Amino acid sequence: MDYVIEMLHIRKEFPGIVANDDITLQVKKGEIHALLGENGAGKSTLMNVLFGLYQPEKGEIRVNGQKVNITDPNVANDLGIGMVHQHFMLIDKFTVTENIILGKEPKKSFTIDIKKAEQQVREISDRYGLDVDPQAKISDISVGMQQRVEILKTLYRGAEILIFDEPTAVLTPQEIHELIGIMKTLIQEGKSIILITHKLKEIMEVCDRVTVIRKGKGIGTLNVQDTNPQELAHLMVGRDVLFKTEKTEGRPGQNVLEIEQLHVKDSRGVEAVRGLDLTVRAGEIVGIAGVDGNGQSELIEAITGLRKADSGTVRLNGKNITNLRPRKVTEAGVSHIPEDRHKYGLVLDYTIGENMVLQTYYKNPMSRNGILNYKEIYKKAKSIIAEFDVRTPSEFTKARALSGGNQQKAIIGREVDRDPDLLIAAQPTRGLDVGAIEFIHRRLIEQRDHGKAVLLVSFELDEIMNLSDRIAVIYEGAIIDIVDPKQTTEQELGLLMAGSKKEREGEQTNV
Ligand SMILES: Nc1ncnc2c1ncn2[C@@H]1O[C@H](COP(=O)(O)OP(=O)(O)OP(=O)(O)O)[C@@H](O)[C@H]1O
Ligand SMILES: [Mg+2]
Repeated sequence: MDYVIEMLHIRKEFPGIVANDDITLQVKKGEIHALLGENGAGKSTLMNVLFGLYQPEKGEIRVNGQKVNITDPNVANDLGIGMVHQHFMLIDKFTVTENIILGKEPKKSFTIDIKKAEQQVREISDRYGLDVDPQAKISDISVGMQQRVEILKTLYRGAEILIFDEPTAVLTPQEIHELIGIMKTLIQEGKSIILITHKLKEIMEVCDRVTVIRKGKGIGTLNVQDTNPQELAHLMVGRDVLFKTEKTEGRPGQNVLEIEQLHVKDSRGVEAVRGLDLTVRAGEIVGIAGVDGNGQSELIEAITGLRKADSGTVRLNGKNITNLRPRKVTEAGVSHIPEDRHKYGLVLDYTIGENMVLQTYYKNPMSRNGILNYKEIYKKAKSIIAEFDVRTPSEFTKARALSGGNQQKAIIGREVDRDPDLLIAAQPTRGLDVGAIEFIHRRLIEQRDHGKAVLLVSFELDEIMNLSDRIAVIYEGAIIDIVDPKQTTEQELGLLMAGSKKEREGEQTNV
């Protein structure tokens, strides 16, 4: 059998946990092989072993049939293995080309031949359909383009086997579509791909085979043709997963969040929110649907005090909170599950316990007379961990050591636990496995039923349709329509998001 990669009986331990326990993964040449498992199952760890970032305690790795010893990522590169990490490793101040050639620069006598490098970057990007601007600075380009730079970086180093760790978690639907096209081209060009994703639809669409792991152990490898999302979900979480969350009719009360004529500029100084009006009542979930870049992020940042509003008002329970500092907004009764969990959500070098009190550490009982009360802090953390099923060895573990999905669950737990009047959830289930998504959806509905106002922003239309009591469509910085999810199809929603006003029933819709 032609395997390009064989990982046989791999064992990798961390203090207090066996992350990989006798896992076997065999990848055929020219296939897209999915690696599927719950949050914390050990997927990233296994791929970090393959890429030489971790050394396994036991097991054997073979590349093209040859036993190898991958002591560091340079060895992996030389063996033709490239990895696109979930959290990109690019240097913001450098250009696209500089990032791609870093450490492998073409030289002209003693200087770097940047023209030649740009030429090479153009050639590879043309060949694989990876659209980038070689001269652009990383800080100025979209997440989708940054990801293409990461892919080019591996190809420039001669990668034949590409590892993608949750590449679609950070992308918009349009970018996901493009990435799928790129993966197909890579396969046609003879590459092999290992793909980690929680989206079963993606596995069904692009993958040839799938290996499932659960709690660090291999469950088996299946042909995608012979399976279906229900079976995959069952295999990975060990129980049936409902793909739709049940909820009763909402019973909205008084206005909690009232936004009037809000104007906010983005980081480049361009007006991103342009005269936006929106109300969220107690006991309802309002979902914001829109194509990325229509002002969603700036809106949330303005409400939470992370970005200044130029004009307009934001009221919470009738009180003006426009342009208050983040801490004041929090104290007024707002919780925020942020879109970027590493920038605003967690301090990775703090313990989980410390992270659970980032907004409350200075208050009784977490502090007494200005001194942190660690007993209370860790007690609180322990209860959030238990209640939100955060898989961690303990509350004393550093946030960095948690799997991506478990970091997310910890943030959600902390924000819900603060018992806010308004809960803002931005892409709340990004990076979560299907079981965890179901759980978080139930918790959001429960918050609504407890009379909280919930503002949900998500690119997952399923999620918006499933959870929202009302859907507010955002387009070019304003809410252009409010629709009832029970009386709207995904197609209609898609058209509205593209800027067309809802047509009356029976009429022809023009875009
Ligand atoms: N550097 C580390 N130090 C200690 N423990 C770690 C470290 N990296 C991972 N772990 C632990 O190993 C286990 C597997 O984590 P891993 O990141 O491989 O999960 P994953 O399958 O990628 O999950 P997710 O879908 O949430 O990204 C987890 O229990 C995690 O807490
Ligand atoms: Mg992971």
